[in-house]
Amino acid sequence: MTDGGKPRPSGRRRDDRRRDGIVRIAAVGDFHCGEEDAGRFREAFARANEEADVLLLAGDLTRRGTPAEFRVVAGELADVRIPILAVLGNHDHESGVADAGLAILRERGVHILDGEPFELDAGVGFAGVKGFIGGFGRWTLTAFGEDETKGIVAATLEEVSRLEFALRRLSTPVRVVLLHYSPICDTVVGEPEQIFPFLGNDRLVEPIDRFQAAAVFHGHAHHGTFRGKTPGGIPVFNVSHVLVQKEGVGDMYFLFDVPVARSDDAESGQPRAIAGTAG
Ligand SMILES: [Fe+2]
Ligand SMILES: [Fe+2]
Repeated sequence: MTDGGKPRPSGRRRDDRRRDGIVRIAAVGDFHCGEEDAGRFREAFARANEEADVLLLAGDLTRRGTPAEFRVVAGELADVRIPILAVLGNHDHESGVADAGLAILRERGVHILDGEPFELDAGVGFAGVKGFIGGFGRWTLTAFGEDETKGIVAATLEEVSRLEFALRRLSTPVRVVLLHYSPICDTVVGEPEQIFPFLGNDRLVEPIDRFQAAAVFHGHAHHGTFRGKTPGGIPVFNVSHVLVQKEGVGDMYFLFDVPVARSDDAESGQPRAIAGTAG
């Protein structure tokens, strides 16, 4: 199923979709692989080869971020042939060896969108960061008081800045954003209100709206709300695995069609990570 709930033929290939002016995204986060999960998701992920043009992983790929768990994740993705783009989540940092995890994912061919954008082709590009905590609206945490508080706000602002930079580096007319933490309050509603400040931060909305992203995908709020919108009207999807299943929009991932220039109107090209620094 795709956004809007209409069934689509699953066997249509990327070139056919591009001729129709569509790039189809499969997106999921928070499947939290443990060592005992080897083989559990492999078949479901492999279906993305037929159903989508790119697979987005919105963080919390593991339970505690151990190298053994990252190796399970790489195994679950072993049969995926379309580009895989990912950000890490807080769970993936728990063991303090995220670099080792990233190396395992990169060896599998996963492109880590940690401020490093990715152009699928000339039509659509992807920018992502983990994001961070801090809350929403007038209750957002401010850099006042103890150094520790200022440190949290500084870490959030650093994520905002890296997302802005990644969006600016994309030369594609269509830009898609991937996060772990939520950039809006609407998609965390359903979780206990007391923990909203730990589920995201709406400082991330400013570059999303300014660069007019086509859509945003995030995870982290497992019991939040599936869809929302930024103040600028950009669609936001909370693709936490349990929420995708609860909403009935997919078994493993949510499929979303992004309108792009039809392939005979646009210069086509190979997927590429953007090298070097921005202009
Ligand atoms: Fe999670
Ligand atoms: Fe999380």
